[in-house]
Amino acid sequence: YLILANKETKLGNEYVPASLSTLPSSLTLYGKEIKMEATAALAVEALVRELRACGYTDIAVTSGYRSYEYQQILFNTYLGNEMAAHPSWTQAQCEAEVLTYSARPGESEHQTGLCIDLISTNNVVLDTSFAQNPAYEWLMENAHYFGFILRYPQEKESITGYTYEPWHYRFVGAKAATEIHEKGITLEEYLN
Ligand code: DAL
Ligand code: ZN
Repeated sequence: YLILANKETKLGNEYVPASLSTLPSSLTLYGKEIKMEATAALAVEALVRELRACGYTDIAVTSGYRSYEYQQILFNTYLGNEMAAHPSWTQAQCEAEVLTYSARPGESEHQTGLCIDLISTNNVVLDTSFAQNPAYEWLMENAHYFGFILRYPQEKESITGYTYEPWHYRFVGAKAATEIHEKGITLEEYLN
């Protein structure tokens, strides 16, 4: 559960988790089918059920395991969006922009099946407004008990390679998550 996937440590196009299971559709946005590594799936289930039991009933999972091929589609979509939004930019400039928030195929942690993107059904966007949702504060205090860390914290871009993502949680197991939480470090720093 400590596998590292980032811009330097790539998974490549062949990596697929050894066992994948499908999250209960009641936990996902619009009931869509989302797969996770089998143990991480159970931890996600515990986390989201507890969130809802604590009153954060709007929280759902919107992304989990993503194949190399799906990440390629996502990355190309973002690239197209940036090119359309900035007609005067070169393709390299647009790629550099996309790389601040999206991994290239073969470099995404989502390909490990160990991370999720959470979303509010009252505000169906993945942006920093998620940090204003009351569930975020709960997650900052409790996610580590379920084995999850906030993977891309604020002001850690130079270490993680990505800008702040208050919605993206990575399963590392409760022991590592607790140490990472208590020290206020990233997965990269923990592994070093
Ligand atoms: N948004 C994260 C960095 C990903 O694309 O995996
Ligand atoms: Zn994510």
